[in-house]
Amino acid sequence: MSNYDIKDIQQAEGGRRRIEWAEREMPVLRSIRERFKKEKPLKGLRLSCCLHVTTETANLMRTLHEGGADIVLTASNPLSTQDDVAAALVNQYEIPVFAIKGEDKVTYFKHIRAALEHKPHMTQDDGADLVSSLFFIEMGRFEKLEPSLAEWAKTLKDDERKQMLKNVIGGTEETTTGVIRLKAMEKDGVLKFPVIAVNDALTKHMFDNRYGTGQSTLDGIVRATNVLLAGKTFVVAGYGWCGRGLALRARGMGSHVIVTEVDPLKALEAAMDGFQVMPMLDAAKVGDIFCTVTGDLNVIDGHDFEAMKDGAIVANSGHFNVEINIPALEAMSVGKPNLVRPFVDQYTTKDGRKINILGEGRLINLASAEGHPASVMDMSFANQALSAEYMAKNADKLEKKVYSVPTDIDNEIARLKLEAMGVKIDVLSDEQLHYLNSWEEGT
Ligand SMILES: NC(=O)c1ccc[n+]([C@@H]2O[C@H](COP(=O)([O-])OP(=O)(O)OC[C@H]3O[C@@H](n4cnc5c(N)ncnc54)[C@H](O)[C@@H]3O)[C@@H](O)[C@H]2O)c1
Repeated sequence: MSNYDIKDIQQAEGGRRRIEWAEREMPVLRSIRERFKKEKPLKGLRLSCCLHVTTETANLMRTLHEGGADIVLTASNPLSTQDDVAAALVNQYEIPVFAIKGEDKVTYFKHIRAALEHKPHMTQDDGADLVSSLFFIEMGRFEKLEPSLAEWAKTLKDDERKQMLKNVIGGTEETTTGVIRLKAMEKDGVLKFPVIAVNDALTKHMFDNRYGTGQSTLDGIVRATNVLLAGKTFVVAGYGWCGRGLALRARGMGSHVIVTEVDPLKALEAAMDGFQVMPMLDAAKVGDIFCTVTGDLNVIDGHDFEAMKDGAIVANSGHFNVEINIPALEAMSVGKPNLVRPFVDQYTTKDGRKINILGEGRLINLASAEGHPASVMDMSFANQALSAEYMAKNADKLEKKVYSVPTDIDNEIARLKLEAMGVKIDVLSDEQLHYLNSWEEGT
């Protein structure tokens, strides 16, 4: 196979071993793979996947491949690629990958272009970069594209650009931020095919966002800094699914946790969960470690940096690298930052304080650690695989909207996961079923 772009094919054997290690923790996806192997529900379909290139994603790719899909995988973040996994996918599983850890923006979009040149029938996104590129190209809105991608798009004939989109029967989206972008597209009437919001499945966000992000974000911060969490003041911005998981785990490691929020309900929940809640500007004065998980813009801004203590550590685990206003920090710093450890850029402010930004403000759990543990991605990617199958079977009946994962799929994944964990639960008796469905029973 020659059509791929990865760092080093020699790393394939190590990647294969790690992919198989993750596979042991992914029994639900494994059982889907066995079925896909026999039934080939994706036969004849070209899939372009724009996901974090990790061991868990590799197991999803193997599942879709066994299902008969013709796949191309590209990264959904310049820093999240595991180069040995990319090598193994190409060399051991014959799946073309376009992803190199640390690639610059031009290369990142050159890889998105490769996914578009695959002429997909279906897309899988994590953050909607692939789908939004496809739509901007179709609409001829080249100014919204990264310049080199725009140059390529301009070389296409009008009907080629339109056909690229017409080929697509539907897509899936993995994360909160991507779903928000897609719902905005639906609202503006520019969404041109149905998309299943995998993130909206309960077996996704209740577990992946909470337990997966909670654990792997701490892992990323610790691997990058080797800082002791016990006794530190840890500021979590955002108390959504990811923020709850992160706050809970930071407390479990002995940190004093402060939560910042903009939603009164979430703030109340954080307060009643026993966390201190305050505005970021107040938290900035006392925090030792900061982590944003909001999906929002400039959550830590210039005035917050002005208030921070010497030695503050600042990270982000929300989807895009816009939650921390790094340009504002640059403007108040002397010279360039020093890379004092891998993934730690140390800025010196004009008044002499050192502020440490982790992973260039990108998803820290994927930049300096390995992303979510396989056991939780088992459920997220079971949703991806079954949603792809559902789309293949039902796309012609769906409208150009964002759909939730069908409840049957969600429940089935929960059932399979419990079974794999060896957890048994009670079953409603006929008497209980009748009682719960009756309005006549009472005191
Ligand atoms: N690191 C990962 O691997 C990973 C995994 C899943 C999701 N994500 C990303 O994490 C982000 C959060 O996801 P989620 O599922 O927790 O979303 P969510 O919608 O459940 O929570 C986001 C929270 O942030 C709050 N918020 C918004 N602006 C804020 C601000 N200025 N200050 C403080 N709080 C603010 C919102 O009120 C909300 O409660 C998204 O970008 C999502 O794509 C990352």
